[in-house]
Amino acid sequence: MSSPRADSCVLVIFGASGDLARRKLLPAIHNLAEAGLLPEPFAILGVARPAMSEDAYRTQVRASVEGEEGEPLDAAMWQRISDRLHYTAGELDDPGLYDRLKTVLDQVRRRHGIPPNYLFYLAVPPELFATVSRRLAAAGLADEREGWRRVVVEKPFGYDLESARRLNAELTEGLRETQIYRIDHYLGKETVQNILAFRFANGIFEPIWNRRYVDHVQLQVAEDEGIGKRGAYYEKAGALRDIVQNHMFQLLTLVCMEPPVSFKAEAVRDEKVKVLNGVTPLADADVRNYALRAQYAGYRQEPHVATGSRTETYVALRLMLDNWRWAGVPFYLRTGKRLARRSTEVSVHFKPAPFTLFRETPVECTNPNVLLLRIQPEEGISLSFDAKVPGPLERLETVTMDFGYAAHFHREPSTGYETLLFDAMAGDQTLFHRMDIVETGWQIVQPILDAWARDTASPPSIYEPGSWGPPEADWLLEREGRRWRSSLS
Ligand code: BG6
Repeated sequence: MSSPRADSCVLVIFGASGDLARRKLLPAIHNLAEAGLLPEPFAILGVARPAMSEDAYRTQVRASVEGEEGEPLDAAMWQRISDRLHYTAGELDDPGLYDRLKTVLDQVRRRHGIPPNYLFYLAVPPELFATVSRRLAAAGLADEREGWRRVVVEKPFGYDLESARRLNAELTEGLRETQIYRIDHYLGKETVQNILAFRFANGIFEPIWNRRYVDHVQLQVAEDEGIGKRGAYYEKAGALRDIVQNHMFQLLTLVCMEPPVSFKAEAVRDEKVKVLNGVTPLADADVRNYALRAQYAGYRQEPHVATGSRTETYVALRLMLDNWRWAGVPFYLRTGKRLARRSTEVSVHFKPAPFTLFRETPVECTNPNVLLLRIQPEEGISLSFDAKVPGPLERLETVTMDFGYAAHFHREPSTGYETLLFDAMAGDQTLFHRMDIVETGWQIVQPILDAWARDTASPPSIYEPGSWGPPEADWLLEREGRRWRSSLS
């Protein structure tokens, strides 16, 4: 839950001419300005390689924000942002740049009357995270004696457990953990944040949110698009690293965690890491039985993809949590590119009602209640239950109670970066990954990565684009008497 106020500061965007800055960060700043949520006074300093004037940078930013908004910007609003927009060029591994930055930052903040609070956003390739943070520290720019200094890091946080540990060690050479904001854009989504509000602001769910009442839980991040132009990145990542280890594990923690004592960052993050620590480690045989990888037909023809690529674009996984709340309840995760449709959801499947009462009626079975959290699109929550079909015969039909964000709040939930930027400026780390959360996530997937790397004999199975993945993934549930939810609808 966001704090009420973002501090006055200079937002320094490294990689200011890149995609992330232009398509997400600057449009998010514009939205914050529109909502009256930018701190006052405030300024942005873009840093990137191309040499260009501040005016050229402003024109570039305006074009991209307009592109994302899909309509011309309000002139007065844009003028306010434009007046605060500055640019400086340089090579990110050049120590000279950071000495210059000290002077430029001083000038910028004096001009706008901003206290020496700096939010450094590393919208740069992961190879540069350590370099930039080291250079910042060496130049004294991470020193918090005069004002706060925070560094936002984008995923990927490492490539495996070892590299994640190395990266964390490198980042903490010159920064304290409280200065590091590891961003996961899933945590910026309203529907993801609402999982905690839904669970803990309502009295009726918590008592049944456990192994006594829940049969199993499904988590799904399905995308209809392929990898587009990201072949070079994706070849090295694959679905397990790209989606499961971060976004899906965050969903898992929010669904499974114990109530934290407060919404303070450490209270929430302590409970999250306990969930991940509770996941039963996978042995080799478990990987064979409960972790499945596949690749969409045509993936190998995508640009920058090797003709013999074994990179998975689909993962299905069964995880168990060995704790008092969840022991014995399977968690089925699946994610994939080029699936039947875009749909991120969590479904909690409750245990079925006893059937005795209906034995001598035409009813053949009762259907378990399913609570569905629709993360995106068509954001909302629904609960399915059996109801009597009107008429003299005893017949049942599954019906749903439904809440939709758009219909109720009359607006689409925001896509995330606004809240995350606001929170970073407010010093609230609740929605950001802590070092131990990242490492524990890697610990869970590492045995799968290792087993798949060793297994050179069986390539990932191939699935048809537009399907729900390979048939073996259905078997993962069917052999346990269950079915994937959204393949049914
Ligand atoms: C990113 C992944 O982190 O999340 C992408 O790198 C993926 O591969 C994206 O497409 C999904 O995000 P969203 O918000 O569209 O669900």
